[in-house]
Amino acid sequence: MKAHGKARIAVLISGSGSNLQSIIDACESDRINANIVGVISNKENAFGLERAKTHNIPSQAIDHTQYASREDFDRALMQAIDALQTDVVILAGFMRILTPAFTEHYLGRLLNIHPSLLPLYPGLHTHQRAIDAGDEIAGASIHFVTAELDGGPVILQSQVTIDDNETSDSLAKKVLQKEHAIYPQAIDWLCSGRVTLSENSALFDGSPLSSAGVLQN
Ligand code: GAR
Repeated sequence: MKAHGKARIAVLISGSGSNLQSIIDACESDRINANIVGVISNKENAFGLERAKTHNIPSQAIDHTQYASREDFDRALMQAIDALQTDVVILAGFMRILTPAFTEHYLGRLLNIHPSLLPLYPGLHTHQRAIDAGDEIAGASIHFVTAELDGGPVILQSQVTIDDNETSDSLAKKVLQKEHAIYPQAIDWLCSGRVTLSENSALFDGSPLSSAGVLQN
């Protein structure tokens, strides 16, 4: 992404921001060669905004309910992100569906983390759906964001086992731990140019990744 110097990252959140925290920690310890230049939440009371303040990272809420349409909200979001002169945009528990205008604008520099082993269970309630299906493993995926919801090329996945008596909450906790380990890794690959998007494929050091990306358990 950046041949020299640190990439400028904007992180979009809606809630607790535990993934944001793992990204902050990785930037501060140089595991990601980047600076977080802004955190934006669509919810004013998101705890992640407090995490940003604690680390002196500029933060703002852009309340989607104040916009007449998805297109209007996404336009406001793009203006705020571009005002930060952002190289990379990271969705970290950002619970809004984005318009094609948004995903096109940031294509190749926009990542999402999703709490399932994509292409299984795009959308919501991933953990309960995996349990109900009788799956033995679950996990998290990091992928380039395209216009297709949770459908862009996968970069990295991590797996956990689904135990007997597993609940949605217990599974969510296990998967989150994996998320915190793999998201900083994928972001560093993007910022350093090791991972790129080409014709709807994720490339690692110039070679196409498998549809499941890199597996890191
Ligand atoms: C994470 O589990 C993330 O994978 C999920 O929301 C949680 C946010 O937690 N994202 C999605 O479901 C996106 N569709 P956090 O706010 O503590 O990082």
